[in-house]
Amino acid sequence: MNEKPHLGTRTVWAGEEEYLLQGATQVPVVHSVAFGYRDMDEWLQVALGQKEGHIYSRNTNPTVHAFEEKVRNLEDAEAVTSAATGMGVISSALFALLAPGDRVVSVKDTYGGTSVMFSEFLPKFGISATLCETTDHTQIMAEVAKGCRMLYLESPTNPTTKISDIALLAQAAKAAGAIVIVDNTFATPINQTPLHLGADLVLHSATKFLGGHADALGGVICGRKDLIQQIYHFREINGATLHPMAAYLLLRGMKTLDLRIQRQNDNALQIARFLESHPAIARVYYPGLASHEGHEIARRQMRGFGGMLSFMLKEDSLDAVSRLLPRLRFAHAAANLGAVETIVGPPATTSHVECTREERAQLGIPESLIRYSTGIEHVGDLIADLQHGLAIFR
Ligand SMILES: Cc1ncc(COP(=O)(O)O)c(C=O)c1O
Repeated sequence: MNEKPHLGTRTVWAGEEEYLLQGATQVPVVHSVAFGYRDMDEWLQVALGQKEGHIYSRNTNPTVHAFEEKVRNLEDAEAVTSAATGMGVISSALFALLAPGDRVVSVKDTYGGTSVMFSEFLPKFGISATLCETTDHTQIMAEVAKGCRMLYLESPTNPTTKISDIALLAQAAKAAGAIVIVDNTFATPINQTPLHLGADLVLHSATKFLGGHADALGGVICGRKDLIQQIYHFREINGATLHPMAAYLLLRGMKTLDLRIQRQNDNALQIARFLESHPAIARVYYPGLASHEGHEIARRQMRGFGGMLSFMLKEDSLDAVSRLLPRLRFAHAAANLGAVETIVGPPATTSHVECTREERAQLGIPESLIRYSTGIEHVGDLIADLQHGLAIFR
């Protein structure tokens, strides 16, 4: 028997090897708020963390635990905790691990909600964030060397799929005594394992590829036990707990994670190549293309390039985007990504809706940029759909 089964086997079995209830082969959705004990000594031991068990579902719950265990296993992590959304884990991690006077070094291209944490909420508590040019590794390392409590990365980024050299930056952060956090939402554990590259913590908006069916919100973070304990403690008190029903949906979705991601990797690469050669397209952003500036780093640190790409139209206006999107038959125009169905949307209405047009321009996000989250449909249909849609730009 293989000591460490392949990721595809672990997506199916991890967190679900023990029967929870009377041999039921599927993890039950445990809707109970509290867990009863006839033996007071046992109750006390569980409450004090001296014995495994559950007390109250704001803290822990068996269905949520099974979901967490699956992610912990796939990310090769020591410990794990979860929250109601991706932003739930991100904000819990930042508030649990930072204190007044601390400084975070991060990049300009983090997900919109994360950058709002850096620009609006952390400063209220005397925590500053220095946001570097995402691909300027020299600048990031220089800022880290000045001293900081945390280096926060996201790779690939949302929406222009920029790549950070995680191993290089993690090494610099370690030398400065900083904690390294990586948002691995776009890559998923199938394509990238940040903990193997030196990160201390890896997190996901499980709402996206992990769940994969756009029917449940969730967030999960795993890595060093001492740090996860602090994040768990903050999250049990702030109450942004993952609901057992959502945990069940995410857990079920994750059984096909490996299959879905392999298909999305393949689809995205073929679509990126098609778009790159199309006369109506000015630029394609996909780390799997040799023309992408982070391609060499991505090849080193990723096992696949992911299902996310974005492209810019030659007619660079929001009006051009609004004429194109309704022509696509096999794509939801929606503020989401990572599902089995293809999803499209401009950053102006999705990841960067909080930004002004000028701020988007400063971030290098053109008005006609379209984020394309490749689904698991047949790639021939997706390419034909794009060909038909783009025909209006002749
Ligand atoms: C890369 C990334 N991180 C975090 C989040 C936040 O996740 P959630 O919407 O589950 O709070 C998102 C949401 O789009 C995202 O794309």
